[in-house]
Amino acid sequence: MRKLIIAGNWKLNKTSAEAANLATELKREVSDVMDVDVVICPVFTALSVVQDVVMESNVKLGAQNIYWEDAGAFTGEVSGPLLKDLGVEYVIIGHSERRQFFGETNATVNKRIRAALNHNLTPIVCVGELLEEREAGKAFDVIQTQCTESLAGFSSEEVQKMIIAYEPVWAIGTGKTASPEQAQEVHKFIRDQIMKLHSEDMAQTVRIQYGGSVKPENTAELMSQPDIDGALVGGASLKSEAFAAIIKNCCTVNK
Ligand code: PGA
Repeated sequence: MRKLIIAGNWKLNKTSAEAANLATELKREVSDVMDVDVVICPVFTALSVVQDVVMESNVKLGAQNIYWEDAGAFTGEVSGPLLKDLGVEYVIIGHSERRQFFGETNATVNKRIRAALNHNLTPIVCVGELLEEREAGKAFDVIQTQCTESLAGFSSEEVQKMIIAYEPVWAIGTGKTASPEQAQEVHKFIRDQIMKLHSEDMAQTVRIQYGGSVKPENTAELMSQPDIDGALVGGASLKSEAFAAIIKNCCTVNK
């Protein structure tokens, strides 16, 4: 049985004070949740204050990116040792916004995953197709290339440590969610890719999150799909009530 994992991607939002408040409210609302892993990913500048709030609670800290070198002349970057220093345990890698606006490629995603694993950070590796790719019938080709190239060179043990997030780009921030069947189809496909690269037993242990307009109302139906093991939540993670409701709705899912 794979434990569900819900991660909040706060993107470029919240001052330190606002982030601390949101984390405080969320920690209170989900303090009794044990059956679901809960992660929040604030902006770099709020990681430290949020860690002060969630330390020793069931809410874990994630970052939104990581550079592949540890230190040096890399202006504007943040590295694994610096994230570890703040108590970060997870890191989102290859989010579609990084791919669309900041030149992220499967090759750079691969290097960032390596850096995360080297520093014992759990990578949340994002894949997903654009609307035009889906409409052209190319969604599965795109996902296959993203999986193969991003995960190239990692051992089974290493891939087992990762979380994959399937985020159809057309569903991110649009209010348009993939239907549970559409999402399940791609999740199964991703698991099959991992199986081909590694083994069936190993592929069964990897958690694959869905992301794209997840809200309290659609959580249970999405999570009840056999290959959906959690969610990466953007907009709805910025309100403690909505994010807590998503987490609690997961607790009602029977697989
Ligand atoms: P959304 O974002 O929930 O606002 O659609 C998801 C994401 O980008 O991770």
